[in-house]
Amino acid sequence: MTDPGRIGDTPQGGPVQSFYVPKGTERRPAIARGEGIYLWDVNGRRYLDASSGPVVSNLGHGNRRVLEAMRTQAEAVTFAYPGLFESDANVALADLVCKLAGPGLDRAFFVSGGSEATEAAIKLARQYALAIGQPARVTVIGREPSYHGATLGALAVTGDHHAEEIFGPLMRAMPKVPAPLSYRVPPGHTVESYAEACARALEDEIVRQGPDTVLAFIMEPVGGLASGAMVAPASYYDAVRAICDRHGVLLIYDEVMSGAGRTGTFLAADHWPAVRPDLVTLAKGLAAGYTPFGAVLAPDRIVDPVVGAGGFLHGHTYFTNPLSCAIAHAVVSEMLDRDLIGNAARMGRRLRAGLDALAARSRIIGDVRGLGLLMAIELVADKATRRMLPPALIAPARLGALALQEGLALYSRRTSGGKFGDWVMITPPLIIDAAQVDELVGLLDRAITRFERELPRA
Ligand SMILES: Cc1ncc(COP(=O)(O)O)c(C=O)c1O
Repeated sequence: MTDPGRIGDTPQGGPVQSFYVPKGTERRPAIARGEGIYLWDVNGRRYLDASSGPVVSNLGHGNRRVLEAMRTQAEAVTFAYPGLFESDANVALADLVCKLAGPGLDRAFFVSGGSEATEAAIKLARQYALAIGQPARVTVIGREPSYHGATLGALAVTGDHHAEEIFGPLMRAMPKVPAPLSYRVPPGHTVESYAEACARALEDEIVRQGPDTVLAFIMEPVGGLASGAMVAPASYYDAVRAICDRHGVLLIYDEVMSGAGRTGTFLAADHWPAVRPDLVTLAKGLAAGYTPFGAVLAPDRIVDPVVGAGGFLHGHTYFTNPLSCAIAHAVVSEMLDRDLIGNAARMGRRLRAGLDALAARSRIIGDVRGLGLLMAIELVADKATRRMLPPALIAPARLGALALQEGLALYSRRTSGGKFGDWVMITPPLIIDAAQVDELVGLLDRAITRFERELPRA
């Protein structure tokens, strides 16, 4: 076994983790290779990738078709600036993604990740408001908790008081309304009545801001890490759409995590088909970790006025580069040819059954929630009262560390300083099969049991 060593044991350079943990901390295992849903470190230890990294590796690792597409495009041309050239890879991908996204999402603008997608969606919305003669619309309402990216514009619409305390003075933090959390609803509420109250809070906030000044409302249709795969009652989506329509506010769905097949439909939006968002962002699973990638999907009715008024004032050096577009095209094609969206729905049902059974046995799994293969388990000190585990434990990190020792890689970062609870994401690659779902649940069971043994009996 190679000793992983300690952070700070190299005089210069060293791993990126040196920005996160103090010198002297044991280093992470070094990754050697990945294949399917498994990863191996340089000591030959195998890990089941139970979360697709940060919900990225939807095709698993080492997909031959994607690697081949990467090589073919790289040999043809890796980079050509959209200011000078069109690329067939761009056109083929835009056609495919817009077809899958369905009516009303006619155009695709490709970027290099989720934060860039959020920025582009907000800027497109702003230019649209100007183009249609509504220059006062400058406010984007977000939800708390939520996550829309790490760049300052995306952070401004993100609902995380901890991040806002630190970075707020650098940006114009936007107003937030409560997200319809389903596990910890305030006293006197049911899940449904609380979701109704959350929708009313959106309308109240629009009125408070002045309806003519509100540009957009941004939300994750199925929550990501910030809410632990929160799913709202169907009536919430209807109410939000009606409120946005009443006040001329654009509805942006952040599908960076929930999109590209993860929930068992191409867009999570497809679960509530009567409600169509005005703009959609994608990233993560769209290129499944084979290249940094993201997208904004938009209707002609928004793009055309912007172009008529002089065009979109936005772009990055690497946006829509042919190599990334070809890779994403291979990823999406592979997903379709292998019916991985259907597999996400089927395996999602099996995973939920396994997690429900585990929760019934466990004294610390208070909730299992999500859709398809976008799932989370919430950890509690007491299932009857839903009391949280002591904050100082940083339960997601501890469970993540124990799971790694069991050969299970989890996405288990605490968000909002633990204010809304502690959970870990269970979001394996969409290629997972039935036996592997059972293996995942078995390994998680072992990690949970070890964690329970460590906890004092309250
Ligand atoms: C819902 C959501 N939006 C936006 C982002 C930001 O994406 P990226 O990290 O690719 O910039 C993330 C990342 O976790 C996300 O989960």
